[in-house]
Amino acid sequence: MTLSLDIGTPVNTALLIYILYSVQKIVFPPISNSKVVPHEFKQGYTWMPKAHAPTVLFQTYTPKTLTPFDGTDGGRILLAINGIVFDVTAGRSFYGPGGMYGNFAGRDASRGMAKQSFDTEMLTPIDQPLDKLEDLRPDEIENMKGWIDHFSNKYVICGSLVENDAI
Ligand code: HEM
Repeated sequence: MTLSLDIGTPVNTALLIYILYSVQKIVFPPISNSKVVPHEFKQGYTWMPKAHAPTVLFQTYTPKTLTPFDGTDGGRILLAINGIVFDVTAGRSFYGPGGMYGNFAGRDASRGMAKQSFDTEMLTPIDQPLDKLEDLRPDEIENMKGWIDHFSNKYVICGSLVENDAI
């Protein structure tokens, strides 16, 4: 049995032209040069922004590579709690220079969060091994976990904190 398509009939010819037109629109989508940002999907499908939106890359940090992210240069602000690195740039008023919690910026804030304290001894010097938090009381660990919950709901997790010699 042979299948044949009679493209000679007007209906089939019209269908074939429509299919070819549809396929070329998919393969070669028209590029919109509109200067106006489209507000709905139909308009926006082929519209390209000038630059890609900023993205956050999940990375492994050490105490030493985390410190530059303290916001003093006006850049990103990161802090770590229990090995989880949060991008707290959106909370610059809290963690930026002069901010109430600026001491935690670029640092492992675990102990300070657990003990609810800004004391300088809460921060492990950046050239020393990570704070193992082994001496913390269960309620302090719970308090720290509460902060992890708070941060997870508010900020982006952008990495993990490992020992200086681990990478
Ligand atoms: C006099 C004592 C304190 C006052 C009046 C105070 C006040 C505040 C206020 C008003 C907020 C903002 C809440 C919000 O809008 O979400 C806040 C958030 C916060 N507080 Fe305190 N605080 C105090 C002590 C502390 C201490 C001792 C710590 C130590 C860990 C601490 C850590 C934080 C953190 C981490 C946040 C969350 C900021 C964020 O969402 O990024 N606070 N505090």
